[in-house]
Amino acid sequence: MAKKLFIRTYGCQMNVYDSSRMADVLAPLGYEPAEAPDHADMVIVNTCHIREHASEKTFSELGRLRQIKEERQAAGQQTVLAVAGCVAQAEGAEIMARAPFVDIVLGPQTYHRLPEMVARATRGSGGVLETEFPVEPKFDHLPEPSAHGLTAFLSVQEGCDKFCTFCVVPYTRGSEYSRPVSAILKEAESLVAKGVREITLLGQNVNGYHGDKGEGLGQLVRLLAKIPGLHGLRYTTSHPRDMDDELIAAHRDVPQLMPFLHLPVQSGSDRILAAMNRQHAASDYLKIIERLRAARPDMALSSDFIVGFPGESDEDFQATLTLVEQVGFAQAYSFKYSPRPGTPASTMAGQVPEAVKEERLAALQDLLQTQSRRFNQACVGKSFDVVLERRGRHPGQLIGRSPYMQSVYVSAPDEMLNSVQRLTMVTAHGNSLGAELTSELACA
Ligand code: SAH
Ligand code: SF4
Ligand code: F3S
Repeated sequence: MAKKLFIRTYGCQMNVYDSSRMADVLAPLGYEPAEAPDHADMVIVNTCHIREHASEKTFSELGRLRQIKEERQAAGQQTVLAVAGCVAQAEGAEIMARAPFVDIVLGPQTYHRLPEMVARATRGSGGVLETEFPVEPKFDHLPEPSAHGLTAFLSVQEGCDKFCTFCVVPYTRGSEYSRPVSAILKEAESLVAKGVREITLLGQNVNGYHGDKGEGLGQLVRLLAKIPGLHGLRYTTSHPRDMDDELIAAHRDVPQLMPFLHLPVQSGSDRILAAMNRQHAASDYLKIIERLRAARPDMALSSDFIVGFPGESDEDFQATLTLVEQVGFAQAYSFKYSPRPGTPASTMAGQVPEAVKEERLAALQDLLQTQSRRFNQACVGKSFDVVLERRGRHPGQLIGRSPYMQSVYVSAPDEMLNSVQRLTMVTAHGNSLGAELTSELACA
């Protein structure tokens, strides 16, 4: 009998990929997607531990789910409740203690064993905790990926050995692991056979990728670009240290590689970059950007920034603003530093007061928004191939992504959902573009 599965996903694209793979693993057990948790026989919360605010969401979500589980139980229905992802990895035992109504707690490296965990949980032999880092990679045990629409994520690398002093990822995701080239090509071919046209390669340090014969990400991109029918390739998230010549050359030579790169710099101050253990200076970052733009002149850039890292002075923060001015970002994400348990920065001297963090965040976001509005404005009048992947809130509206990752809104017939259309940009907003079908403009 068909059972219903609901997955709530927080955090990065890697978690989005993992959630869809968990659904793939559970499909042979008869689980089909549910619209909402109150109709689901199994609910998975796939969690993120990166900042305090992200982590807190886990426990408030669990409070809501407990109620649903109890209501269903009163109506004679069972709900298997699982917590996956990075909070599960970091605080598994605490979840079991604080939320005994949770049936399964599983880390990001163990989800290929979900069927067995579900069997144990439904037998009623108590909570299941699986947060070991297994010797065998989970990828060897996953079924073929399902695909919905024209775009897909493909995880090629996991884990992180960089140990930035603010970051929990090396602890929640373990050490760096790259999948073999042959497995990645096979998964990409299977996605393309299911209709996927654009693939985003994922990794916590995706450009630290190294294949079984020493292939770097640049070489992997060249191999993937040979797959007939695969029109677009992206990768995220990269570290400036691993931006090698081969990858920069791929941006010059491989037309499928999109002209957009998310390359987090975090800060523009060399003193802060050193305290963060980023292992490069601001000038190294600027040099990389210069070389990328020489290889691909229409390259648009994005970054992550942290303000209020311990010891950050006004001058350090000013250096971040200066770097932003020098680069000119198409978009960016910025965060107030959040001390994370067990990370070196959380106990460093010079923790910055909340009010100062707020002020710096507002100033940085102001500048970044000005830049993204300017970038979006410069797109008006240009035509791009856009993958229309969602319906908008208004009837007759479809939403897609430009090559530069902006959301593009267009009035178009519903049959165009899940197709690539040539659109002309007509209006620019803070985070998005309004477009018209290019063919209609040509007729007008
Ligand atoms: N692997 C990627 C990013 C991983 S986390 C990289 O190396 O860049 C995504 C972003 O969250 C980071 O780039 C950083 O800007 C932010 N972040 C990570 N830890 C944080 C913390 N303790 N406080 C605030 N922001 C943080
Ligand atoms: Fe975290 Fe740094 Fe690793 Fe990125 S490179 S995941 S920020 S430790
Ligand atoms: Fe969050 Fe884990 Fe991703 S901490 S950002 S879900 S790797």
